[in-house]
Amino acid sequence: MIRNIILLGPQGSGKSTQAEKIIDFLKIKYLSPGQVLRELASAGDDLGAKIANQINQGKLLPSDEVTRLMFAKLRQPEFKNGWLLDGFPRDIVQAQDLDKAFRVDKVFNIELSDAEAIERLGGRRVCKNNHTFHIEHKKSSLENICDICGEVLEQRHDDYPEAIKQRLSLYHQVTKPLIDYYKAQDKLVIFNGADTIDNIAQKIRQYLETNA
Ligand code: AP5
Ligand code: MG
Repeated sequence: MIRNIILLGPQGSGKSTQAEKIIDFLKIKYLSPGQVLRELASAGDDLGAKIANQINQGKLLPSDEVTRLMFAKLRQPEFKNGWLLDGFPRDIVQAQDLDKAFRVDKVFNIELSDAEAIERLGGRRVCKNNHTFHIEHKKSSLENICDICGEVLEQRHDDYPEAIKQRLSLYHQVTKPLIDYYKAQDKLVIFNGADTIDNIAQKIRQYLETNA
């Protein structure tokens, strides 16, 4: 049975977009280090300022600290019936540590070219609850207001050209090797991220219906 899922893919491939649909379908919990770190960053204290500075430049946070943060969340009772991880693990050490502590059932890899990723991130708008829209591909009904929770939609601080370049470069260096890591474990399922949002969602759903 598939209960514990990892979403892999470059920035802008649609991890957070598809995550909303998967957790709804499987009734599992969502956890994204990006989201948790942005919440910490907005706290207004010294730690928050340090985290914001790293994220906004497109740099990664210290790997072992992010792992500690994620594991503390995953051990909470609400995660015991299954989880979807969006943005974790992001390097081989995080993946090895996760394997030592938890069971991973499947890894969905959403593939996308850098050129397409850059176009998508420039048009992305998000609310503080991480609901994700796009000025062309996924418009909200009211401009700059989230359809789901009514919060204001904004451009992320790391969705500007310099930070995007840095993030994609880190993806190729440290995150992409995870594809082979999970392929070797026979857990990898590949989806074409260049397809439409609805088509990708439908393919993921078909996969889950056939294999869940
Ligand atoms: P995080 O928030 O996870 O960002 P990311 O990994 O850079 O991924 P994105 O959220 O940019 O991409 P996405 O795939 O979710 O795309 P989306 O669905 O929005 O992490 C942020 C930061 O936190 C990191 O840079 C790092 O500093 C830190 N961090 C996080 N995890 C860490 C870790 N494990 N260790 C250390 N540090 C960590 O889609 C993009 C846009 O395209 C949207 O506008 C959407 O509407 C649109 N779209 C989506 N799908 C389609 C489609 N099929 N067709 C057309 N448009 C589409
Ligand atoms: Mg995301």
